[in-house]
Amino acid sequence: MPASPLRYLAVLFTSCLLLACGTDEREPPFNSTDITGANYARGFTLTDHTGARRTLEDYKGKVVTVFFGFTQCPDVCPTALSIMSDVMKRLGSESERVQVLFITVDPERDTQEMLAHYAPAFDERFVGLYGTLDETAEVAKEFRVYYAKAGDTSGMNYTIDHSTGTFVFDTSGKLRLHVRHAETAEKIAEDLQRLLAEG
Ligand code: NI
Repeated sequence: MPASPLRYLAVLFTSCLLLACGTDEREPPFNSTDITGANYARGFTLTDHTGARRTLEDYKGKVVTVFFGFTQCPDVCPTALSIMSDVMKRLGSESERVQVLFITVDPERDTQEMLAHYAPAFDERFVGLYGTLDETAEVAKEFRVYYAKAGDTSGMNYTIDHSTGTFVFDTSGKLRLHVRHAETAEKIAEDLQRLLAEG
């Protein structure tokens, strides 16, 4: 007995609903660029603004964000850190499981003391990291971060051109996201919340 047109339509309709459901169950993309599995930015060994030697592993259990810059940067660095400060506020108590790291690309001028004043000024939990010139070059290469002195490079009045994105690691220390400069605090907070929800 042939199925009635009505019944056929009902089956078709149900199939469409199931398809729609299937589509909805897929994870929406992150706001930031998903770089899970990338074979760079695997870690670092640097000194923090209290003088302690630090590696990425020290921050396991937290979502870690890494930004490269320098304290005399007039615009890009303060903007990036202000946005991260806003992200921390948006995350509320969840922010306790987020560690914001600022790695200087200007170790000649950014002393431990400078970093100790600079990074926590945006949020007292932010940590500034520095290395020797060689360590700085090494970590920048590992993260594929560009930096170069510019302007008056004859003395100590130079400026530094540098990459502006932020790298995000999940709580297991795995590289996950690259946040473009000046992404909104709202969108960054959304992404970090998702990573925090994973574990
Ligand atoms: Ni900067």
